[in-house]
Amino acid sequence: MPQYNHILLTGGAGFIGSNFVRFVRAHRPDTHVTNLDALTYAGNLENLSDLEGDDGYRFVKGDIRDADVLRELLSDDNPIPGVDAVVHMAAESHVDRSILDSQPFITTNVQGTQTLLDAVRHANDGRDTPIRFVHVSTDEVYGSLPLDEPNEKFAESTPLAPNSPYAASKASSDMLVRAAHHTFGMDTLITRCSNNFGPYQFPEKVIPLFVTNLIEGKKVPLYGDGLNVRDWLHVDDHCEAVLAVLEKGRSGEVYNIGGNNERSNLDLTHTILQLMGHGDEMIEYVTDRPGHDRRYAIDAGKLERDLGWQPTRSAWPDALAATIDWYKSNGDWWQRVRSGAYRDYYSKQYAGRSVH
Ligand code: NAD
Ligand code: DAU
Repeated sequence: MPQYNHILLTGGAGFIGSNFVRFVRAHRPDTHVTNLDALTYAGNLENLSDLEGDDGYRFVKGDIRDADVLRELLSDDNPIPGVDAVVHMAAESHVDRSILDSQPFITTNVQGTQTLLDAVRHANDGRDTPIRFVHVSTDEVYGSLPLDEPNEKFAESTPLAPNSPYAASKASSDMLVRAAHHTFGMDTLITRCSNNFGPYQFPEKVIPLFVTNLIEGKKVPLYGDGLNVRDWLHVDDHCEAVLAVLEKGRSGEVYNIGGNNERSNLDLTHTILQLMGHGDEMIEYVTDRPGHDRRYAIDAGKLERDLGWQPTRSAWPDALAATIDWYKSNGDWWQRVRSGAYRDYYSKQYAGRSVH
């Protein structure tokens, strides 16, 4: 099984990316990680403050739409071993924001992915072994399942039918990655994962939003009838799966990743309320999200059969309780996100420093 010398990770200052950096550094200490992140509202370097001083990790502020930055990072004369793998997580990721303004979703998720693919293709010129490219996508590209067919799940062969501008932009990027493999023989893989939960998730997403609201004594805004279903996976299980796909996946393949852990939003809300000692009076039913997908459910059998991966950290409700405890113990982190103070970290920490 190849272990990579140097992963270029895009979007490593976000929720999953920052957990992935920590996961790789803990489980593959010989693998260097360069984190390229534009630090949009969702990028928070405080997520990685514990890795300051780790020689195997470096941060580069830059945009995946900037071909010059990509060329420089992928060139062979980097000070640390040259990049031999790209894990692409940078994206606009929040469905509600894509409904308010879809433009950044197109420029980052679609155009940015193509810019990155082009840069990797050019960097492959003259190399014996091409750079391996893992594109981190989402189950939302498959669209929505009905509630009355509980045995139906998304397989890798399920046709793409994205319903939100976010999902459509991710589906577009998946198609670009597929085309890069087919046309140019690039060594690409695609993962499609269900909803993640865990530490450092931006408190616009439902679990950290509800938990931090309750800590502050506020109600939780439940969309529509609350019967929409999501399949919840702990972020470290996702990180382990992405690493397995990187190291053992078959070039050109798609791998679904899921927790086998379907919950309606109402069930999820009741569990959070119960774990935090609150009752139903804290639920505020609000207008539904336009185009709200009813149910996501992932069949991750291929990943289990072919690469031996299974979720081990997502057991319900213990994993949810541990996540709630993390937000309770890390009030400083999310209060600085809510106040906007987290945005000063980069300028204070990196002032006057060359970052690449
Ligand atoms: P996030 O919003 O928390 O983080 C995204 C990161 O990308 C941020 O650090 C942001 O600064 C960076 N970024 C955005 N635009 C950029 C650009 N143009 N150039 C460079 N960096 C840029 O997202 P997340 O929840 O951690 O999701 C990471 C990836 O995983 C995304 O591709 C998302 O589609 C996918 N995904 C997420 C989930 C989930 O439940 N959160 C599930 C499945 C797949
Ligand atoms: O399925 C994977 C996807 O999961 C990822 O691709 C996305 O990047 C990620 O954001 C997530 O998308 P969702 O739309 O499912 O996540 P969100 O946390 O926004 O919402 C989860 C469910 O909770 C959804 O059915 C909408 C509902 N919800 C959400 C919010 C923010 C509420 O009821 N109230 C809320 O305030």
